[in-house]
Amino acid sequence: MTGRIRVPGDKSISHRALILGALTVGETTISGLLEGDDVLNTAGAMRALGAKVENLGGGNWRVHGVGVGGFAEPAAVLDFGNSGTGCRLVMGAVAGCPITATFDGDASLRSRPMRRILDPLAKMGARVIDQAEGGRLPLTLKGATDPLPIEYETPVASAQIKSAVLLAGLAAPGETIVIETEASRDHTEKMLKHFGAKIVTKPHGDHGRRIVLQGQPELEPCHVAVPADPSSAAFPMVGALIVPGSEIILDGVMLNPLRTGLFTTLREMGAKITEENKRDDGGENVADLRVTFSALKGVAVPAERAPSMIDEYLVLAVAAAFAEGKTHMHGLKELRVKESDRLEATAAMLRVNGVTVDIEGDDMIVHGMGAGGVPGGGEVATHMDHRIAMSALMMGLAAKQPVRIDDSAFIATSFPGFVDLMKGLGANLGADLS
Ligand code: S3P
Repeated sequence: MTGRIRVPGDKSISHRALILGALTVGETTISGLLEGDDVLNTAGAMRALGAKVENLGGGNWRVHGVGVGGFAEPAAVLDFGNSGTGCRLVMGAVAGCPITATFDGDASLRSRPMRRILDPLAKMGARVIDQAEGGRLPLTLKGATDPLPIEYETPVASAQIKSAVLLAGLAAPGETIVIETEASRDHTEKMLKHFGAKIVTKPHGDHGRRIVLQGQPELEPCHVAVPADPSSAAFPMVGALIVPGSEIILDGVMLNPLRTGLFTTLREMGAKITEENKRDDGGENVADLRVTFSALKGVAVPAERAPSMIDEYLVLAVAAAFAEGKTHMHGLKELRVKESDRLEATAAMLRVNGVTVDIEGDDMIVHGMGAGGVPGGGEVATHMDHRIAMSALMMGLAAKQPVRIDDSAFIATSFPGFVDLMKGLGANLGADLS
């Protein structure tokens, strides 16, 4: 693979830009928005809740918001498709408004746990008035008339839980405090500050944070420039590392340290990834990443790194399959409640292609077969999970036999244009993929 590409805008920042724009009176503009299905569903939800959301073309969007606590009751069910982030963050924003809304999604999202969000939102005064068994979608949430500020310690490192509480806390008087013992991605905090909210973050313990938000701010409309998504960059990056002779450049990739655990791990494995033209884009450090085919070796990945690479273990497992020796990934419990059970699905993806994988409790151990050593030839079950589909395709680029996937449709949730961009780099993805 050779050439230079820019992967689409960051998914986490794109959701938040639409939601905060909708909670701000006036005109917020967004450039570089990810126009994947997940984010488009969030845009649809913001419209249904009363904001005016316009697609100006070329990744540029305009949002006329309704103000904190100003959402209107939606006339129809809010459908978030495949997106846990969109659904959970909007639950937080709705919890602070005196309205009732029904949340739904596809079969994958309907299977994911929502109590982790609903528990703190109930403490703030929101009520679930209808739900599927086990606190799952479809569910109907009645927001609080007088939301209460709370102090809440998240039971797992999850930016979605943290963000839901902070978004509900916008409408509460006084201080809403979130404590996390392991820091998760901080895009909500950074963007709230960018929109003029008073929010202070301090270290908590060895790896955690204490975040204090002053409620009922007058958010000020502004511009959000969305940098390229490191979680999407991960796929061509691993592709280039395992396909002999590759050298690619990935333009403008966000290097927020709470998102770059994969890059650290790959470098420890011997990956040649260099940062060029470092700069600031939309309040985040970004760089052009030059990635060159590399001989990789297995490593141990510590559990405390998981929050900074939570979406990247699937593609790391592919890199590990092409490394010499074992890669031991510790502490992957949260992978079981993503778009699919990613722990089992990743192991199955590798095994069906001839790679030995052990799952020991919450750990995954991949027995690497060295550069060019993976047999391939299997068909991978993608379980409605975009990241399994893209990871399996990267494996196929360097395996001895082609790798098939059962469904490519979900790639569009996070990485529209994936196939064309990869083919532009010379990746042999097969004629039937478009
Ligand atoms: C996200 C947080 C992560 C991640 C997801 C995006 C976000 O989920 O897996 O893809 O934008 O807040 P958790 O916070 O539940 O770990």
